[in-house]
Amino acid sequence: MPNNIGPFTPGPDDTETAGLIAGDCFQLAQDIPDGSIDLIYTDPPYTTNTLYIFDWLGVEAPRLLRPGGLVFAYAGTYFLEKIMRALASNLTFHWLFSVDLDGGNPYFRARQILNCSRLIVAYSNGPAAPHLYLRDRLRSEGKDKSIHEWQQAVQPARYWIERVSKAGDLILDPFAGSGSFLAAARSCGRRYLGFEIDPQYIAPARARILATPIKPYLPGIEMATQELPFPEAADG
Ligand SMILES: C[S@@+](CC[C@H](N)C(=O)[O-])C[C@H]1O[C@@H](n2cnc3c(N)ncnc32)[C@H](O)[C@@H]1O
Repeated sequence: MPNNIGPFTPGPDDTETAGLIAGDCFQLAQDIPDGSIDLIYTDPPYTTNTLYIFDWLGVEAPRLLRPGGLVFAYAGTYFLEKIMRALASNLTFHWLFSVDLDGGNPYFRARQILNCSRLIVAYSNGPAAPHLYLRDRLRSEGKDKSIHEWQQAVQPARYWIERVSKAGDLILDPFAGSGSFLAAARSCGRRYLGFEIDPQYIAPARARILATPIKPYLPGIEMATQELPFPEAADG
C-alpha cells in the first residue's frame, strides 16, 4: 500500500496537506482509489435533513473499503431504522455497539427519553475480516465539547479501531469534526485520513490530532474499567 492515496498523504506522518483535509467528503472521496481503506470510522450528522448522508455512505463505503473492511457509523437511535436500511443496501450487518454517555445526557423530547448511550452500527464489505474479540459496549471517558458541539469520546473509538485494524492500516473519517476518531487512529499507530467541510474546525482538530501521542497497546491500563479477559484470537 503506497503512503499516498490519490492526492492525499495520510498520517500519522502528517504533512501540510495530510491527515485532515478541508472540504466536502462527497467530492474528496472521489479521489480515493477503490478498495484502499481498511476501516471507515465515522460520526455523520444525523438529522431528518441529513439522512441522505447514510445513503451516500451505503454506496461509497463498499467502493472505498477493501474486502472484509468494516464501517463503524455513529447513529441516532431515533433514526436507527432508516440508517440501517441505507447501510444494508450494499453492506453486511456486523454488530451494534454502544458508548455509555458520561454526563450531559440529552433529553429526546419527541419520545420522552433520557438518551444515555450513543449507538454505533457496524457493517462489513462482504464477510468481515477476522479481528480481535470486542466488547460491544464501552463507557465514554467523560464529556468534552471543547472544540465541537458534537465531539465524541476518543477512548472507546481507540478500543474498537485498535482491535479491528492493524498497524499501518488506513482509517477514514469523512465527517471528522474535531478529529476525535483521527486522534484515536493516530494514537494506536494507524494511518488516517479525514475530511471536514466546516473550516472553523480544521486548525483546532489538526492541532488536537497531532498532539495525541502514539501509544502502544496497553491492555488493562487505558481501558481498565472496560476490559474483560477476552482471548486475543478471532476464534477462541
Ligand atoms: C457529528 S459531527 C462529527 C463530530 C466528530 N465525531 C467529533 O468527535 O468531533 C459531523 C461533522 O461532519 C461535518 N460534515 C457535514 N457534511 C460534510 C461533508 N459533506 N463533508 C465533510 N464534512 C461534513 C460537519 O461539519 C460536522 O463537523
